[in-house]
Amino acid sequence: MIRKSGNRFSEEIMLKENDSGLSRFAEPELTRPITTVRTVRDLRARVAQWRGAGERVALVPTMGALHAGHLSLIGVAKAHTSRVVVSIFVNPMQFGPHEDLAHYPRDEAADMQALAGTGADLLYAPGADEMYPQGFATQVSLPSLTEDLCGAARPNHFEGVATVVTKLLMQCAPDAAVFGEKDYQQLLMIKRLVRDLDLEVEIVAAPIVREADGLALSSRNGYLSHAERKIAPILIQTIGHVASDLAQGRGCDDAAEAGRFKLEAEGFRVDYVAVRDPDTLAPLSGPLKGPARVLAAAYLGKTRLIDNVPVPFSRR
Ligand code: PAF
Repeated sequence: MIRKSGNRFSEEIMLKENDSGLSRFAEPELTRPITTVRTVRDLRARVAQWRGAGERVALVPTMGALHAGHLSLIGVAKAHTSRVVVSIFVNPMQFGPHEDLAHYPRDEAADMQALAGTGADLLYAPGADEMYPQGFATQVSLPSLTEDLCGAARPNHFEGVATVVTKLLMQCAPDAAVFGEKDYQQLLMIKRLVRDLDLEVEIVAAPIVREADGLALSSRNGYLSHAERKIAPILIQTIGHVASDLAQGRGCDDAAEAGRFKLEAEGFRVDYVAVRDPDTLAPLSGPLKGPARVLAAAYLGKTRLIDNVPVPFSRR
């Protein structure tokens, strides 16, 4: 059902045509209903039971609308620990006033069904009052890592993510937490906050899961019209070309500019195409002197797509 991509730039999971990918992650013999808890108290009680029995616990934070990308995170979690908690919380704090909070897909019954076959042990689905009780006043922010790229177009988005992820990690106190590489800026931010706040959790990065035509899986892909969906894979094709150009010695600004030009010519409204240091997200210029990451965000109609690819460095 899935294959590792042959793409020389990345370790990714590609779905086959007409494959939702969900069944790949749902082993029939493991299919069983999953228990749901909605309070921090119940979550901690369950985790304490497991800990008491000497088990290790991983957390997979999500906003629901689960697809094969999320389920692959659970697979990665299962490879690290014996118990896996999945959280579903559509976090209002990370949506801007004109973003899609009201329309964001929510279907807990479908999510429960998707989880039933994955081997996840517990669903933590708190309400907004549990996460942000009356008088809640704390924000976690990492300006140096979040002011540009997606942060420039989505003011306060990363403060919302950092705050809720910090809370989830403190509520669950897992040994490991898994985040997808598709949200690369988010992943680096979370690694940094865990280090800065001395949280005792291993942050595990999971590879991007892609449709057969290369489009990275996202809960927002469902917003694309039929015509937009056909164009959407040009995003990954384009940043793949940028990565190839860089590997062949083309300068970073030049390669990124060519990528932007190509996307605009294909009908995207480009937010950014950027070549960055893969660990710090610092901008790079000139021909590569080390590994890099190509990141892009672009709109098709009202839908904002993001994607990224690594560029390994080999001395020519
Ligand atoms: O990546 C997401 O789905 C969200 O940003 C996260 C990490 C679950 C926080 O709400």
